[in-house]
Amino acid sequence: MTKEDILQALREVHHPAKADRDIVEIGMVHDIEISDSKVVVTLAFPKRRDPLSEYLIGSARAALIRHLPSSVASEVKTVVVDDEKPKKKGLNLGLEQLAEVRHIVGIASGKGGVGKSTVAVNLACALARLGYRVGLADADVYGPSIPVMTGTEGAVPAAEPGAEEGQELIIPLEKFGVKWMSIGYFAERGQALIWRGPMACNALKQMILQVKWGPLDFLLIDMPPGTGDIHISLVQDIPMEGAVIVTTPQTVALADVEKGVNMFRNENVNRPIFGLVENMAWFTPEEHPDEKYYIFGRDGGADMARELGVDLLGRIPLVQGIRESGDAGEPAALGNRPDGLAFVELAGKLAEKLG
Ligand SMILES: Nc1ncnc2c1ncn2[C@@H]1O[C@H](COP(=O)(O)OP(=O)(O)O)[C@@H](O)[C@H]1O
Ligand SMILES: [Mg+2]
Repeated sequence: MTKEDILQALREVHHPAKADRDIVEIGMVHDIEISDSKVVVTLAFPKRRDPLSEYLIGSARAALIRHLPSSVASEVKTVVVDDEKPKKKGLNLGLEQLAEVRHIVGIASGKGGVGKSTVAVNLACALARLGYRVGLADADVYGPSIPVMTGTEGAVPAAEPGAEEGQELIIPLEKFGVKWMSIGYFAERGQALIWRGPMACNALKQMILQVKWGPLDFLLIDMPPGTGDIHISLVQDIPMEGAVIVTTPQTVALADVEKGVNMFRNENVNRPIFGLVENMAWFTPEEHPDEKYYIFGRDGGADMARELGVDLLGRIPLVQGIRESGDAGEPAALGNRPDGLAFVELAGKLAEKLG
């Protein structure tokens, strides 16, 4: 393993805000120490705090992990160059950018694959269709799917200086009348994001707190699947008003949904559940739009909602068109098929509930 090998690995890390040049080219690699069992890379950051610092450090770590043999440990340190003042510790992100947001709603699920992102994207588009000002933050740092589902993949959000000295804000992308932000915009296509707990947490807080949202009626947060520490920390640090829980109708899903609900009812979190969305409630074949097949059982969502003491906000059918719209980046909620209108109805219910 030579210095050149390490540099080669680090060249895979691109800085989205610096014309997508790599960190070696920009001169951010300050030092590389190589011993038999360990590689330590030091990245140099300028005095002005780089809004993407956590992302760059995480990506550099991931690049080292990908390229080093598993017997060699790696570490990424940072140094601040040209700085008269002592380096500030931590991220130090405030809630200023959320000041003009009326309702912050988490979209959560007990486990992955139930259609949480599909519901989040379509709910956002449907709320916009009803005339509300809407933003959506993709907080699923492990599997960001918002860029693909909205056809904004490959777009690079701009950054601009904030009100405070040294502060930089990320400008969300706008499409379908919704403001979108996702960690996916800062990763290479198809590149797996490898994060450790605290890093993932910081990265996703940046995707919410360092974004110039402006005035919004609704900011939806597509939460990462699961109910771990990262979720509790997210709900505590972001002033979420409450949550919508997405589930599928099977009885086996009840335990997962219960975990999701309990996460918000946890005494340290204590936020209301606005309701349950039953996704894939029935199957409707494309060529027979009037037929409903309850392949996962009938009324599963309603029973679940009753058992957990929450409202059933909406029921979304399983139709091929929803998946195809998601893959094509044209959310179903923009159209007038029954499945699209189901999202509009859901949006109306949520808006009514939140006044
Ligand atoms: N109601 C639905 N009808 C058809 N396909 C769906 C529906 N809901 C979700 N899907 C598909 O299921 C897959 C997983 O959905 P996704 O929203 O990514 O789940 P999650 O965010 O919970 O992991 C995607 O391919 C999506 O297009
Ligand atoms: Mg998802």
